[in-house]
Amino acid sequence: MWTTLVYFLLVVSCAVSKTEYENVLDERNDFIQRELDMMLGNDITLSDNELKANEIIMDLKCKELDFGFQSPHIFNLSKHFFEYKDAVKESALYKIIQKMPKGAILHAHDTGLLSPDYVLNITYMENLYVCFEEDTMQLLFSDNIPKESCGTKWQLMHDARYSSVDVEEFDAELRKYFTIVIDDPHEIYTDINVVWSRFQQYFITTGSMFSYKPVWEQYFYDTLKAVREDNIMYMEIRSVLPPLYDLNGKVYDSVETAESYKITVDRFVKDYPDFYGAKLIYAPLRMVDASTVKQYIKTAKKIKKKMPDFLAGFDLVGQEDLGVPTKEFLLELVHAKDDLDYFFHAGETNWNGMSSDENMYDAIALGTKRIGHAFALTKHPYLMEEVKRRGIALEVNVLSNTVLKLVGDMRNHPLASFLARDLPVVLSSDDPGVWEADPLSHDFFVTFLGVASRHADLKLLKKLALNSLYYSTVKDKDKVVHEFEIRWTKFIDSLVKDKW
Ligand SMILES: *[C@@H]1O[C@H](CO)[C@@H](O)[C@H](O)[C@H]1NC(C)=O
Ligand SMILES: *[C@@H]1O[C@H](CO)[C@@H](O)[C@H](O)[C@H]1NC(C)=O
Ligand SMILES: [Zn+2]
Repeated sequence: MWTTLVYFLLVVSCAVSKTEYENVLDERNDFIQRELDMMLGNDITLSDNELKANEIIMDLKCKELDFGFQSPHIFNLSKHFFEYKDAVKESALYKIIQKMPKGAILHAHDTGLLSPDYVLNITYMENLYVCFEEDTMQLLFSDNIPKESCGTKWQLMHDARYSSVDVEEFDAELRKYFTIVIDDPHEIYTDINVVWSRFQQYFITTGSMFSYKPVWEQYFYDTLKAVREDNIMYMEIRSVLPPLYDLNGKVYDSVETAESYKITVDRFVKDYPDFYGAKLIYAPLRMVDASTVKQYIKTAKKIKKKMPDFLAGFDLVGQEDLGVPTKEFLLELVHAKDDLDYFFHAGETNWNGMSSDENMYDAIALGTKRIGHAFALTKHPYLMEEVKRRGIALEVNVLSNTVLKLVGDMRNHPLASFLARDLPVVLSSDDPGVWEADPLSHDFFVTFLGVASRHADLKLLKKLALNSLYYSTVKDKDKVVHEFEIRWTKFIDSLVKDKW
């Protein structure tokens, strides 16, 4: 009784004796703690070794950030990606992130993953013809002069190259078709449509070269290799599945194209058994009418029937602001929704309340498993709750969004808000080859340093990697996660031991 009273008096007098200043200070600190507890990765507990690794990583991160805070005019990540993409690769933090096991890459388009230098090398292959037109170029493999229309004349790439004045200069000019990186993006890429047009031109120019069956398979094999070298263990790849051709004049349809991917993956996994394979998301162009979508769905079902373990699901691609809204295909998509899993691109836009923004409503109502981009999601409080409730992962591609002009300064990317509220996020890279980024390391680095809070640490990185497996459709998920844990522990040990 006495003790209770004494205790009571003590508590009251303490409270009373607290100054207004202390109360405010307490509350402020409480706010910080509450927000830290809400952040993506908050549920992870770091081991002793991970805590040591965290110190190393946070020391590097804070140094870079604090320097940027003092000298914002030279803070790399507020500039255009083209200006810092090579420089950051030299930073110690980048090298750690490159070595870090990153789980899976879940949002990537098949013909946009490798560098322009890789694509340039393909032009050295035999039987490649070229037709140079005013600002464009057509490429085609053939065993004699192509019959396809050409505004000038078809010639063998080999002849064009070696009859040029300067082969190096010829290749430098050719390389420009295989990248959207330029010296003066602020002047040239004045709005989203300009940069998208250049971006789409890349796919048009390379399309007929890549869809030569031997190149198609080699490109995919080498993509898996690059992905594996970036410390990724599994991939889900989106493809429009174009018809392929060979020199005998045979044309392969979309189902056969999917089969050629399946065969390539199987071959790759045989060569590299530490890689956990790849699945396909059939993602044809959205700039079409409803009856074409109906055809697409038919094709998707055929692939599913033939290769049920290989097809992850269905999506539609293309610039959403200019493309046909998902709503136009709602009937077709509703009919197929029990047969196919959806992984829709949606909300890859700066517009609010327009059709591209509202594609997110359709995607979620159609039961999409994940959303590609969801860049516009912060403007939709109800949808934000809904993706969390339903466990719909957001496939966020920060570099794609900056290069394709949705956001200029990385610090303003809406991902900051997704991370702060612990939405189900997976990081991906969309078409990293086209802007000369690594398969996933650049996106992780920029997110960690330029988008997430200064307080976000190793817990965030680990959670993002784990999420990529958790929200994937990988077979034997538990086994893959277990293998990830082993690699992660190895990575942490080596980081702590070497201090790199
Ligand atoms: C920009 O990146 C380079 C290479 O990592 C680094 O040396 C430099 O300090 C960075 N600048 C800032 C302000 O972070
Ligand atoms: C292109 O080919 C050259 C010569 O075979 C090779 O050294 C280089 O590594 C290749 N580049 C890429 C990006 O594959
Ligand atoms: Zn995409």
